[in-house]
Formats: sequence, structure tokens, C-alpha cells
Amino acid sequence: MAAKLGHLARAAAAILCLLIFHVALSDSLAKASVSGGTGTCISWERDALLSFKAGLLDPAGRLSSWQGEDCCQWEGVQCSSRTGQVVRLDLRNTYKDGNNKYTSLNLSRDEMSSSLADLQQLRYLDLSGNNFSRTSIPMFVGSLENLRYLNLSWSGFGGRIPYQLGNLSNLQYLDVRGNNYYYLDSNYSNLYVVDLAWLKHLPLLSNLDMSGVDLSSVRDWFNMVNMLSSLKVLRLEDCGLTSTVSDTSKANLTHLEVLDLSANLFNTSLEHSWFWDLTSLKELHLSQGEWHGHIPQELGNMTSLEVIDFSKTDLLGLIPSNLQKLCNLKVLNFEDVNINASIGEFMDRLPRCSWSTIQVLSLCDNNMTGKLPTLIGNMTSLSVLDVSANMITGTVPLEVGALSNLTELDLSYNKLNGVLMKEHFSGLLNLEYLDLSHNFLKMDIEPNWVPPFRLKSINLELCIVGPRFPEWLRWQTRIDYLLLGNTSLDDVIPDWFWVTFSQASALDASENMLRGSLPSNLQHMAAISIGLERNNLTGLVPRLFPINITSLDLSSNSFSGSLPAELKAPQIFMLSLADNKITGTIPWARLMKKTRKDAA
Ligand SMILES: *[C@@H]1O[C@H](CO)[C@@H](O)[C@H](O)[C@H]1NC(C)=O
Ligand SMILES: *[C@@H]1O[C@H](CO)[C@@H](O)[C@H](O)[C@H]1NC(C)=O
Ligand SMILES: *[C@@H]1O[C@H](CO)[C@@H](O)[C@H](O)[C@H]1NC(C)=O
Ligand SMILES: *[C@@H]1O[C@H](CO)[C@@H](O)[C@H](O)[C@H]1NC(C)=O
Ligand SMILES: *[C@@H]1O[C@H](CO)[C@@H](O)[C@H](O)[C@H]1NC(C)=O
Ligand SMILES: *[C@@H]1O[C@H](CO)[C@@H](O)[C@H](O)[C@H]1NC(C)=O
Ligand SMILES: *[C@@H]1O[C@H](CO)[C@@H](O)[C@H](O)[C@H]1NC(C)=O
Ligand SMILES: *[C@@H]1O[C@H](CO)[C@@H](O)[C@H](O)[C@H]1NC(C)=O
Ligand SMILES: *[C@@H]1O[C@H](CO)[C@@H](O)[C@H](O)[C@H]1NC(C)=O
Ligand SMILES: *[C@@H]1O[C@H](CO)[C@@H](O)[C@H](O)[C@H]1NC(C)=O
Ligand SMILES: *[C@@H]1O[C@H](CO)[C@@H](O)[C@H](O)[C@H]1NC(C)=O
Ligand SMILES: *[C@@H]1O[C@H](CO)[C@@H](O)[C@H](O)[C@H]1NC(C)=O
Repeated sequence: MAAKLGHLARAAAAILCLLIFHVALSDSLAKASVSGGTGTCISWERDALLSFKAGLLDPAGRLSSWQGEDCCQWEGVQCSSRTGQVVRLDLRNTYKDGNNKYTSLNLSRDEMSSSLADLQQLRYLDLSGNNFSRTSIPMFVGSLENLRYLNLSWSGFGGRIPYQLGNLSNLQYLDVRGNNYYYLDSNYSNLYVVDLAWLKHLPLLSNLDMSGVDLSSVRDWFNMVNMLSSLKVLRLEDCGLTSTVSDTSKANLTHLEVLDLSANLFNTSLEHSWFWDLTSLKELHLSQGEWHGHIPQELGNMTSLEVIDFSKTDLLGLIPSNLQKLCNLKVLNFEDVNINASIGEFMDRLPRCSWSTIQVLSLCDNNMTGKLPTLIGNMTSLSVLDVSANMITGTVPLEVGALSNLTELDLSYNKLNGVLMKEHFSGLLNLEYLDLSHNFLKMDIEPNWVPPFRLKSINLELCIVGPRFPEWLRWQTRIDYLLLGNTSLDDVIPDWFWVTFSQASALDASENMLRGSLPSNLQHMAAISIGLERNNLTGLVPRLFPINITSLDLSSNSFSGSLPAELKAPQIFMLSLADNKITGTIPWARLMKKTRKDAA
């Protein structure tokens, strides 16, 4: 159980990690802008919009303003103040509160109405996040020759991308990302391209995102893309690309700032790749690309780099030692690379001029050895420090406690030892996520300490935290995950526990020596999972469980008396009461088919 929750927390950590990267990266996305104010609507354009609308299902009424004469006033429509023609159509479905499906515009016919082709002055078209029901991107889009911005991402398009897009000679932004995540389990054909020759007709293209488009049959994708000398952002994540380019190809993309080739199947060495010439690059994403070999010296010439993501590759060894001129580094993701060296050596090779700019340092799962250097305290902008799942030894330097911007600190699954005191945490004003589990650490913190942070997640599994239940946790009312399994607690569970953590989803304090009884009513708790197995809890099993609980483990304690007459926990999936002193019958035995093996 404890182990399971541990995995859960690690999975959550990974997701958090991803989110942080995502946020960090999306900041740098350029925004397209168009001129234009409010004009007076032109009647044929009004008709065109109305017939486009007629082909859509709009359960949320997003287009309810689309009536009356002046289409320039309609939601999402913008006209030129000079000509009155529609220049902008922004029907992006934002993923607010995960409610996108309710605000999605869905196609109600076999294909999108071609009436949009009448909007000849359209410069900006955003249909992203809607549902075009597996239809192809219509060919007529290629006739909107004034388009500067075309966003068809996350909108369920399929089939072949029409080469007619090559007619959009003014296009600066083309985003067709994410159409592959839409229908995961059907026979839907992903967006694909066989021949990218049409790209060369888009000389102004600065931002191209084809992530998720199947480009596996494009023979010379690099040469096609290499024609686009205005490109600043190129994202070809998960496109089924297998070939990189031989060292004879010269990169033409002198303005490129963001290159994302993650999740392709290159299976080749990182040395002699074309992108090492691109010294203007700010972001280099090569995650999950089956790259192998060493990280080449050429990295040292890429002085504009801010983001390096080499995570989950087969790269081997340290970063090169010539990175002194990389003074703008912000995000370094080296998760699950085979660095196989000491963390001190790795940090030594990070350029000094970047110590105060690095915000994210992820080195998890790298077989790293040695001690965590005290110089970590000089990385004053750090917001994420993840060195989990290595073989780091020694104590945790006090300097960590000075990192006031740290939101995530993950030292779990190492061989750290020694005592953590309140000074280790005294400056961590912004900490939200703390994982010290699976080390040889002891916490020695006065009961009256008031932490400077309000955590969302804490994992101390296998640390020596007890014998007293840590009083300082009392202030951590924002906790979602609390994992205290096997932390040498020899105490009663304090009354405030059930108040402070009433909003938490996972609570685990198994494998301790916790005594006393549980409140009889836990219905106010938001918990989905509670693990208190292998303690010495006594008294009755609570009469009312947390209403949304799915997993409750109270096994191997000293609970006695009878079971509650009714099991008011409709979502329960795992209930273990084994190895207690409970007597009588199981009143809700009929419900227990799934879990009978565990029942007392
Ligand atoms: C519209 O598509 C969304 C997915 O984008 C789907 O969840 C929803 O059920 C569809 N609505 C209708 C009315 O078909
Ligand atoms: C396209 O729209 C999506 C949201 O649906 C947004 O995240 C993305 O940044 C847009 N692409 C461009 C190039 O602006
Ligand atoms: C997209 O919309 C169609 C028609 O409204 C609907 O049948 C389909 O389920 C939707 N797709 C998804 C992924 O929800
Ligand atoms: C593309 O442009 C050519 C020449 O301007 C034109 O003949 C053709 O119809 C256009 N194709 C589309 C799909 O708009
Ligand atoms: C996918 O195709 C297979 C074989 O053509 C068919 O048996 C199956 O029912 C299809 N599944 C869906 C969801 O259409
Ligand atoms: C570089 O880009 C220009 C167009 O901007 C193109 O004419 C030229 O062929 C490209 N060079 C290579 C080597 O692809
Ligand atoms: C770095 O750039 C300089 C100057 O352009 C060049 O002479 C040198 O060979 C480059 N170093 C590497 C490792 O590519
Ligand atoms: C970890 O590093 C040691 C040497 O430090 C090496 O012997 C071992 O093979 C490495 N393990 C992995 C999984 O790379
Ligand atoms: C690291 O920070 C400490 C304390 O602020 C300072 O005294 C020291 O000089 C710094 N070391 C380096 C190498 O910058
Ligand atoms: C901490 O983060 C804030 C906001 O991102 C930033 O303004 C501040 O300079 C950072 N502090 C340090 C010491 O880097
Ligand atoms: C139980 O789940 C429902 C639905 O997600 C939620 O509205 C409710 O607030 C939850 N109850 C508690 C006590 O957290
Ligand atoms: C559990 O508590 C009971 C009564 O409080 C006590 O007799 C027993 O020794 C305790 N068991 C352990 C393993 O501490």
C-alpha cells in the first residue's frame, strides 16, 4: 500500500514536472496580431458566416450573437475598419476548467462549409480546440490567400493535409498540433503528409507546429523545412521521423529560436546534427528521441540557449566542459539520461554565469553519485530541483534552505543521510511540493516551528520523523498528498489531523506505531485514499467513511467491536480490515465481492 501510494506520488510529481515545463515554455510563444477595428459588415460575408455556422453544432450557444445585420459585432469576428471586410475569425475553444466538451463547436455535416472561402480578406483564422469529427482539412483553406495565422490545433482533423496550403504565401503561423490525441481508440486516420514540397511556398512562415502529424513517409523533411529561412519556431514532436540529416546538410534556419524534435525515432548519435549550427536557438527539445552517444562539445557554442530538454534519451555521460558562455539557461531537463557521474562534477560544468538564471534543474533517474554540493544555494532562481532516483550520498546542505523561489524539491530515492532541521526549510517561502522519501534521513524539528510554506504535497516515507506526530504539519491546510508511511511515528493521531487534512485526496501513515482511535464520522473528508495499516489503532472502525473514498486500508491494527451497519462509500474499490479484533458479521457482505479476500 505504502509503495503504491509512493508510486502515485511519483506519478503526480512527474505530471507536475511536465506542467511546469509546459508553462515555462508556452510563455515564449509569439502572439500574432492583426490590425483592424469594427467596420460595417458586408452582406455576402455575413451570409458566408451564417452558412458556416449552419454546419456546426453549438450546444453551448457560443455563436448566439451571430444574428442581426452587423456581423462585425459577432463574437469572434473582427472586420477591417478600412474596408469593412472580415479579417479575423477566432473561434478557439479554450479548455477552461476542463469543460471544453461543453463549449466545443462540432461539425454537424460531412464536411466544413466552404462558404468561409468567401472571406477573402481573412488574415487570422483560429478554429482550435473544436471537434471537426475526423474530416480532412478542407482544400478551400488554401484559397484564403491573405491568411497570416492559421490555427487548426486540437480540433480532430484527420487525413492528408492538403498541399493547397502552399497557396498561403503570406502565412506566418501554422499550427496543426494535437489532432492525433483526439480519437485514441478508433480507426481514425491521423493527419499525415507524404510530400512537404508545398512548404517552400510559405517564405514568411515563422512558426510551424506539426506535432503529432504523421510525417513518416516524407522522404526529405529536413530539406523541405530548411527552405523556410524565416522560421523562428519549429515543433515536430511525435511525427514518426526516423532520419535526421547527414552532416553535409547545412542548416539554413538562421532565425530559429525554438526547435522541438521530441518523441521521434531517430536512433542515432547526437553528434554532427544539423542543429548545432543554429547558435540563435533558445530552446532545444530532444526528449524521447532515442538519441545516443555523448552530448557534443558544439553545445558550448549555443550561447542563446535557455531551455535544454534531453530527457529520456539514451545519451551517456556528463555535459561538456565548455559551456561557460551559456549565460541564459533557465530550464535544464536531463531526466533519465545516463549521466552516471557525480552530481558535483555535473554542477561544476554548469556555467557560473547561469547559476542565478536557472529555474528548473531536473536530474532524476541518472545513476548519479556523490554529494549534493553546497553551491546549490547559489542557484537563487531555482524553482524546481529534482534529483530523485539517483545514488546521491551525504547530507542535505543547509544552503538548500535559502532557495526562496523553490516550489518543488524532490530528493527522493537517494542515499542521503543525516538530520534535517528547520534551518533546512527556513527560506523556502514558496515550496509546494516536498519529497524526501526513501533516503536515510531524520527530521529533527521543534514542535512549535511554523513553516514558511504551505505545501500541496509531502512525501516523507522512510524518513525518521517520529516518535511524536509532527506538529508543524498542522499549518499545512493546502495538502493534497500526505505520505508518512514508515516514518517511526509512535504517537496518537492528533485531533487536528482530521481538520487540517480534510481536503487532501491521499493520506497515508501506514507502518508506524500510531495509537488511539479514529473519529466515528469521516464523511467530511475529501480523501480518495487512506492508508493506516500496520499501526496500533484501537476502538471502532469509523461509522461513516469519507464519502468519495475508493481505497481504505485499516488492516493490521487493533480495531475492535462491530462493523458499521451500512457502507456509505459508493466509490469504494479496496477496503481492507484484515488482521484486527473486529467481531460479528459483515453487514454489507453482498457488496464485498470485489474485496472479499481482504475482509476480516
Ligand atoms: C462535441 O464534441 C465534443 C468533443 O470535442 C464532445 O465531447 C461532445 O459530446 C460533442 N457534442 C455534440 C453535441 O456532439
Ligand atoms: C493555437 O491554439 C492553441 C490553443 O487551442 C494554442 O495553445 C497555441 O498556442 C496556438 N498556436 C499558435 C501558433 O498560436
Ligand atoms: C465529435 O462530434 C461528433 C458529432 O457531434 C460526436 O459524435 C463525437 O463523439 C465527437 N468526438 C469526440 C471525441 O467527442
Ligand atoms: C492556388 O493558387 C493557384 C494560382 O494562384 C490557383 O489557380 C489555385 O486555384 C489555388 N488553389 C487553391 C486551392 O486555392
Ligand atoms: C476498426 O476496424 C476494425 C477492422 O476493420 C473493425 O473490426 C473495428 O470494428 C473498427 N473499430 C471501430 C471503433 O470502428
Ligand atoms: C535556404 O533558404 C532559401 C530560401 O529562403 C532557399 O532558396 C535555399 O535553397 C535554402 N538553402 C538550402 C541549403 O536549403
Ligand atoms: C564554435 O564556434 C567557433 C566560431 O564560430 C568555431 O570556430 C568552433 O569550431 C565552434 N566550436 C565547436 C565545438 O563547434
Ligand atoms: C551506474 O553507475 C555505475 C558506476 O558508477 C555503473 O557501474 C552502473 O552500470 C550504472 N548503472 C546504470 C543502470 O547505468
Ligand atoms: C555562493 O553564495 C555564497 C553566499 O551568498 C557566497 O558567499 C559565495 O561567494 C557564492 N559562491 C560563488 C562561487 O558564487
Ligand atoms: C523569484 O521569482 C520571481 C518571480 O518569478 C522573480 O521576480 C525573482 O527575481 C526570483 N527571485 C530570485 C532570487 O531569483
Ligand atoms: C465528492 O465528490 C464530489 C464529486 O466530485 C464533489 O462534488 C464533493 O465535493 C466530494 N465530497 C467531498 C466531501 O469532498
Ligand atoms: C497495541 O496497543 C495495546 C493496547 O493499547 C498494547 O497492549 C499492545 O502492546 C500494543 N501493541 C504494540 C505492538 O505496540
